[in-house]
Amino acid sequence: MTASTIAPLGTDARSPRLPAPRGPLSEAVVTAFARAPLGEASSPMITAAREAGRRASIDAFGEDLQLTLYLCYELHYQGFSGVDPAWEWDPELLRLRGSMERHFLRALRERTPGGSDVGAAVDGLLTEPVDAFGVSHHLRDGGELWQMREYAAHRSIYHLKEADPQAWVIPRLRGRAKAALVAVEFDEYGGGRAEAMHSRLFADMLEELDLDPRYGRYLDLVPARMLAIVNMMSLFGLHRALRGAMVGHFASVEITSAPGSARLARALERLGASPRATRFYTEHIEADAVHEQVLRRDVIGALLEREPELAADVVLGIQATDLLEDRLGDHLLRCWQAGRSSLLRPLPALPRS
Ligand SMILES: [Fe+2]
Ligand SMILES: [Fe+2]
Repeated sequence: MTASTIAPLGTDARSPRLPAPRGPLSEAVVTAFARAPLGEASSPMITAAREAGRRASIDAFGEDLQLTLYLCYELHYQGFSGVDPAWEWDPELLRLRGSMERHFLRALRERTPGGSDVGAAVDGLLTEPVDAFGVSHHLRDGGELWQMREYAAHRSIYHLKEADPQAWVIPRLRGRAKAALVAVEFDEYGGGRAEAMHSRLFADMLEELDLDPRYGRYLDLVPARMLAIVNMMSLFGLHRALRGAMVGHFASVEITSAPGSARLARALERLGASPRATRFYTEHIEADAVHEQVLRRDVIGALLEREPELAADVVLGIQATDLLEDRLGDHLLRCWQAGRSSLLRPLPALPRS
């Protein structure tokens, strides 16, 4: 029996399809999602998964935990086709999510240097080392079309929901920090024009690259290293206690975006992509040069004036973003240098023209 044959009322067939499980935790959640919450022994299944997860010392960055966390968070965004929206507030599922979040957050803290010097952390982002070489450099200088398409498939997991995770922090801020952050979000959502929403521009790019622009379409192909980046955003956004980390993360994205976007626009041009394909990145070159200033001066500045005790969390947001982006970048370059796909399965081949 498939999830869709027993879909309760109120589910949305336009939402993405549930992905295939990647281990015992995601198996339990995907199976439970086929039922109504609290019914037909669905919650004991989640409880058993939580206990098994605790015993088995699951890898905080591994495929099973990251996919399960993504499944839990997605209920707060677009949900899944055939899954009862009431799962969003199921107490057992929230308990499972809480235990995975604590594990993930602990791992992020353990693997970042820490500290509370926000100025130094921001300065570190502002100056790119001259010998820096990452995915955007590779794609600009010699990356192939299949690699650009893979990169877009990875990023679709976030950019098709840009900048929803950051919007969670709005009610947790006050005064100047809130007003400035909303001004940046207004641009991310197209300044009131649906066709200019950054998520729409990304979908346009996917189409131009002969990829599927539907939300969540590539979830089954995207490895934990990409899921962890989006999960970190949801974790920081959904916990008021982590509002400083969300602001640090958002600042980090905006500060590093303009030069990276310029390289990716060049990469697309070199590969012969259309202006409709490059628009997502060309928009970000200018927009993020402004957003960077607003985030630094008005959002971080005003937040720390009001709540200086959040400095260490702002640093955590910056460092955790750096850590997870580096892990993804290393993976992409390693796979491509070996001539193999960086996705869990390669994308379908392009139709011959
Ligand atoms: Fe954007
Ligand atoms: Fe931006």
